[in-house]
Amino acid sequence: MCGITAYIGYRDAYPIIINGLKRLEYRGYDSAGIMLYDGESINLSKTKGKVSILENKIKEEISDSGVIGIGHTRWATHGIPNDINSHPHISQSGNLAIVHNGIIENYSALKHELIDRGYSFQSETDTEVLINLIEEIKKTEDVKLGKAVQIALNQVIGAYAIAVFDKEKPDEMIVAKLGSPIAIGIGKDNQEFFIASDASPFIEYTKDAIYLEDGEMAIIKKGREISIRKLKDDSLIDANVQELQLNLEQIEKGGYEHFMLKEIHEQPQAIIDTLRGRLLTDKGIIKISGLENNMKRFLNAERIIIVACGTSWHAGLVAEYIFEDFARIPVEVEYASEFRYRNPIITEKDIVIAISQSGETADTLAAIKLAKSKGAFVFGVCNVVGSSIARENDSGVYTHAGPEIGVASTKAFTTQITVLTLIALRLSRAKGTMTSADYRLYLQELELIPKKIKKVLETDEHIKAIAKKYLLSTNCLYLGRGYNFPVALEGALKLKEISYIHAEGYPAAEMKHGPIALIDDRMPVIVIATSKGHYEKVVSNIQEIKSRSGKIIAVVTEGDTAVREIADHVIEVPDTEEALTPLLTTIPLQLLSYHIAVMRDCNVDQPRNLAKSVTVE
Ligand code: F6R
Repeated sequence: MCGITAYIGYRDAYPIIINGLKRLEYRGYDSAGIMLYDGESINLSKTKGKVSILENKIKEEISDSGVIGIGHTRWATHGIPNDINSHPHISQSGNLAIVHNGIIENYSALKHELIDRGYSFQSETDTEVLINLIEEIKKTEDVKLGKAVQIALNQVIGAYAIAVFDKEKPDEMIVAKLGSPIAIGIGKDNQEFFIASDASPFIEYTKDAIYLEDGEMAIIKKGREISIRKLKDDSLIDANVQELQLNLEQIEKGGYEHFMLKEIHEQPQAIIDTLRGRLLTDKGIIKISGLENNMKRFLNAERIIIVACGTSWHAGLVAEYIFEDFARIPVEVEYASEFRYRNPIITEKDIVIAISQSGETADTLAAIKLAKSKGAFVFGVCNVVGSSIARENDSGVYTHAGPEIGVASTKAFTTQITVLTLIALRLSRAKGTMTSADYRLYLQELELIPKKIKKVLETDEHIKAIAKKYLLSTNCLYLGRGYNFPVALEGALKLKEISYIHAEGYPAAEMKHGPIALIDDRMPVIVIATSKGHYEKVVSNIQEIKSRSGKIIAVVTEGDTAVREIADHVIEVPDTEEALTPLLTTIPLQLLSYHIAVMRDCNVDQPRNLAKSVTVE
């Protein structure tokens, strides 16, 4: 949450920073701001609202010249989203500027100390406290900026990724990280450096990047090698320069109106990429190196605990059904935020699987650390390569979905399920819990999934027409059973987060235990009723809704006739094995939410109050 970016080099900083902020806007869009240094003065412009508003404001307010600058797009934590609370923040002397992603938990005590020393504050933010603390240390201890940052950060409790600039040292930028991500792009001959929460703001300028680790600080000087030090003991660290795999095309809309729609349509290819080199159907083999290297542990595991948040948690629920069914290993699925705070029973015989698209979710990261401290082996399922979670795990697997920029998760979910299905299948083979015939059947079916998703995507116009009928709904129920119960939860989450319609997901059979009281002729009920998987029972549930005048939108298997007779609308998906149906039934629910949100004029890619990467707990 919050995106930070900075540039120091020889090009105009403004276009680099403003475009960078647009790419980072998925991380928060409550406010935005830029500081540019023109060789003499610090020029600052910031505003409540989106980067596009900032862009207009800058034209009226400040000169956009300068080869050094820092920028920020905010997801508010301390202080309401307004111009004053927006970043960058400037120190009392006017010399230092900072952008910050994270939370300084002990900011209040530090603020009081600084007030006693004569500081006054313009904003309600923890960040303004931090920059004045740095200034105070620099002054009183007579140290350089880097040292002052280091001392200050050792007094701070919380999480941060920061970039700090000092007008008195204009060839230098200090960057540090704990808990929030930061990447440093390195230009040719160290003549320019790019700093950002992820690499997207600078991919057209350089492919060489360093991802700082927690507790590290980088001193960046134009024309010089980066020096990286540990904040705790000042020891020097060798810079690990990585080659970025990202390209510009991946982070652009590519002709789609929204990133979310693009990402929904990317799912066939994303799943092909997830399966590539891992699913070798001809040979009857599944190969995932992170799993093979730890096969013994998996085979001896007494239990798998899945930790995740939001949509990733829903993927974990699907995995619970798959692992128990295929590999006969008991599985518990936990909200990472609950797990980390309830003294859970974890043993060395447990395997913890952490699922995260961003690889930066604070609660999931904390859950991993807790599990590791109790001796469990932690296996990660992440999308973002090199992310904090990917690095913290003992082993893991990437989903290879490509960048997911729309705040509502789509292709991350289906690729997570795909990877988890591969793992469960591989384990079932090793444990002998599935017959060879079934195993081969699943391999073949899995390979066909991308084509089948393409077919579901072809029903888009039909789904759009259904969306039109329900765009004014205020409530909505989603029902599914077995493998498709988590899909119902995910469908409801997609609708509420992007269209702000209240929606709930339930196991279909739970209707009678309460939710059925909600049904009337204004209540749309989306039911997943594929032919494999408790079909007759779900049809009975549909009848129960119908007889109470509920409006039924059913997701059915191609060729279904029974549900068609009773439902108000049906959306067909191709037939597949029951355990693989979530990969198909999810798609129409994503499209339905998307179209309803667009028709309600909601900001689909940046829904209110949300941010893509939840780096605060
Ligand atoms: C919903 C959504 C969120 C995320 C959740 C976890 O569409 O995107 O619920 O799934 O914040 O994020 P990751 O997977 O990055 O850990």
